Formats: sequence, C-alpha cells, structure tokens
Amino acid sequence: MSATGSGAAMTPSQFMAAKGGAPLVCLTAYTTPVAKIVDEVCDLVLVGDSVGMVLHGMDSTLGVTMDMMVMHGKAVARGLSRSLMVVDMPFGSYEESPQQAFRNAARLMRETGAAAVKLEGGESMEETIRFLASRSIPVMAHVGLTPQAINTLGGYKVQGRGEDRARVLADAQAVERAGAFSVVLEKVPSRLSEEITQALSIPTIGIGAGSGTDGQVLVVDDMLGLFDMFKPKFVKRYASLVEDARAAVTAYGEDVRARRFPAPEHSFDDET
Ligand code: KIV
Repeated sequence: MSATGSGAAMTPSQFMAAKGGAPLVCLTAYTTPVAKIVDEVCDLVLVGDSVGMVLHGMDSTLGVTMDMMVMHGKAVARGLSRSLMVVDMPFGSYEESPQQAFRNAARLMRETGAAAVKLEGGESMEETIRFLASRSIPVMAHVGLTPQAINTLGGYKVQGRGEDRARVLADAQAVERAGAFSVVLEKVPSRLSEEITQALSIPTIGIGAGSGTDGQVLVVDDMLGLFDMFKPKFVKRYASLVEDARAAVTAYGEDVRARRFPAPEHSFDDET
C-alpha cells in the first residue's frame, strides 16, 4: 500500500504531504515488466537517466537522449497504476534556458503520461524550477552528487564534506524555494542529509545519504543484482539476478548440447 492508502496513482501533492510520515519508498524502472513489480510496493517510480548505463551499456548518463526517455517512459507507464511516475530530464534538455526546459518537460509529460519530471542542480537551476513549477510542471530536484556533472565534479565523489557543506545545504534550500515538490540527495554525508531533511518542508529522498531522509531511492537493477559492472557502497543487493541468469543460460546450453532439451513435453505430435 502506498502512502495514499488508496488504489489511485499517487500525485505530487500527496507525495509532498507524506513528509514526516512513513518513509517514502522509491525505485527506478525502465521497462513494463519491472514497472509492474515495483508498482506493488513503491510510492514513486523514477524513469531515471541511469537507463543509459544499466540498459544501454553507456559509461555515463551523458549520452541519454529525450527520445530514449520518452520510449522508456511510455514502457514504464504501461506497468504502473498506483505509484507516482517521474521521468528524468536528460543532460542538455533543460540547462540552456527555462523555456527549453519547459518545452522538453512538457514533451516528457505529454508523451509518457508522467506526472512530474526530475532535473539535476541546485542554486543554478532555481530560476528554471520556478519557471516550470509555476506552469503546471511538478519538479523533483536532485542535489549533492549530480551524475550529469561528473566532468565538473571530478567523478562520482561524496558531496558536502567539510567546507562544501554550505553549498549542498544552499542548493537544497534553493530548490525548495523555487517550488520543487521533493528533492533527491545523492551521496551526501548522513549528518548533512538529516540537517537538510529537518530544514526543508518538502520530502528528501536519499541515495547514499544515510537513513535520516524522508525516503529512499535505488536503481532497481543495482538492488536486484541485475547490473553488476560495479557496486557503489550505498547499494544493498536484495537478489543476484545476473548470477541466476548466468546459471540458467549455462544449464540451457548443456541441455541443448546433450539433447535433453526440448523434452517430449516441449514438443508437438499429431494430437497435442
Ligand atoms: O537516474 C537515476 O536513476 C537517478 C537516481 C539514482 C536518483 O537519478
């Protein structure tokens, strides 16, 4: 049961109002079958631009396009009935101007049926978030480690340590001021993310940000052990699907080579 307690899809305002209640459960999804599974449990499902790395074999999220987000967004929408669906705005689709951001956010919502978009950045995106939020586009913000900025951040490093604390706090306060309905805190020290969670009136959703946020999000392929190229410290694996798939494919290969598959029950005769 989601935090709405009803069968209808959760809205951004219901998500926002759930701050301070039970922790909000969020996962990514990129396909219809996985969306159906996560919809049973999640309050929010994110069609993350992590799709570029986990499904398309890219080495960062920078190569993800609007067309990819639309295609995966449509697939996920077919599998959801109760969770709030949010689609990531890919690199280069919103940074140029608030107008560019509006055009692309409207396309994502119109073509996928998502109720909201997510974009990366704090103070630098304040004007853009305000522009979108005041024009019927609910925005989930994303501060701390923002993977689309790895080339300027110098890699996938923890953000907000030491003197950098004030910057991450200011980013979170800026997106709230601008009208974001929620904010993702990625790779932020636990004490800082607790402080941000207490300072903001919108829900904070952590990934590598400790247990003191209003909710948690993980990349679904990471927690299922379906993406095993690397495992960040903040990921807990709840299954080992790559290992299971490898064992299954090996068994299939052995069966075919030994003529154990197909067996009579997988074959047709004149009657059955
Ligand atoms: O793209 C993504 O999957 C994300 C989450 C990790 C928050 O932005």
